[in-house]
Amino acid sequence: MDSISLNDGTTIPQLGFGVFKVDPAETERIVTEALEVGYRHIDTAAIYGNEEGVGRAIAASGIPRGELYITTKLWNDRQDNAPAALRRSLDKLGLEKVDLYLIHWPAPANDRYVEAWEALVGLRRDGLTTSIGVANFLVPHLEKLLASSDVVPAVDQIELHPAHQQPATIALARERGIAIESWGPLGQAKYPLLENPVIVAAASAHGKSAAQVVIRWHLQSGFIVFPKTNHRERMIENFEVFDFALSDAEMAAITALEADGAGRVGSHPDTVN
Ligand SMILES: NC(=O)c1ccc[n+]([C@@H]2O[C@H](COP(=O)([O-])OP(=O)(O)OC[C@H]3O[C@@H](n4cnc5c(N)ncnc54)[C@H](OP(=O)(O)O)[C@@H]3O)[C@@H](O)[C@H]2O)c1
Repeated sequence: MDSISLNDGTTIPQLGFGVFKVDPAETERIVTEALEVGYRHIDTAAIYGNEEGVGRAIAASGIPRGELYITTKLWNDRQDNAPAALRRSLDKLGLEKVDLYLIHWPAPANDRYVEAWEALVGLRRDGLTTSIGVANFLVPHLEKLLASSDVVPAVDQIELHPAHQQPATIALARERGIAIESWGPLGQAKYPLLENPVIVAAASAHGKSAAQVVIRWHLQSGFIVFPKTNHRERMIENFEVFDFALSDAEMAAITALEADGAGRVGSHPDTVN
């Protein structure tokens, strides 16, 4: 498993497993299967309502804590009390600390993300999370945060796939040493990515699936990626992406699928509060 070095001196497994929209009643079983398949990096959030299931799967797995990388996120209505929110998430996860804690959205209309960031800096200092970062921060949100704090987020988790690449955010993140995590890496099955002829052609050339090609594009682009699936065979498929490489020409052709805004399948960060 490849790892990415973060700006705080830690590393993160580049491929993980996301649990957005995984039914809380099914989460323990599904995360248990993902751990059996080999995933060691799980991306959850307080708002997903399934931290308890993630925690039960971790506890039952017997996998040493140091071999797991667990991310959760601060929901928007708790930006004024991040310490209480993280303690509640830790209780649900059954953990003493997470590896990465993120501000889930900037929620700019509330104008509290700078205050929340200072609280996350304190939570890292107090050992409740190893790393801290943000999600859904676009250039104006990152610029405001960076102007207000000496602590640069370790990651920015943004909606990102070949048809929605957010180049301005990525450029600023790279300039400041912020690693990019791709959410909705497969277009959430809402954008017709896996049927795209360029991706299908690369899949056929390598004897891989379209999903494997898209995941490989994220990995070779340097992004951290954690596709979600409820299905064990897809967990295996999405994990078997280290035995082939896209050529420079294939990478360029997939990168050229940028749809200039039409590829967004989630909400614009300025509209989520
Ligand atoms: N920070 C944020 O605001 C934010 C927002 C959204 C997501 N995220 C994180 O990012 C993770 C990934 O994003 P996502 O779950 O939204 O979307 P995604 O991973 O792009 O897409 C998941 C969809 O793709 C399908 N799928 C998975 N593997 C497949 C395969 N091999 N072939 C065909 N279809 C496949 C899944 O179906 P089945 O489940 O039916 O297999 C599901 O419908 C989330 O789980 C979450 O951890 C963060």
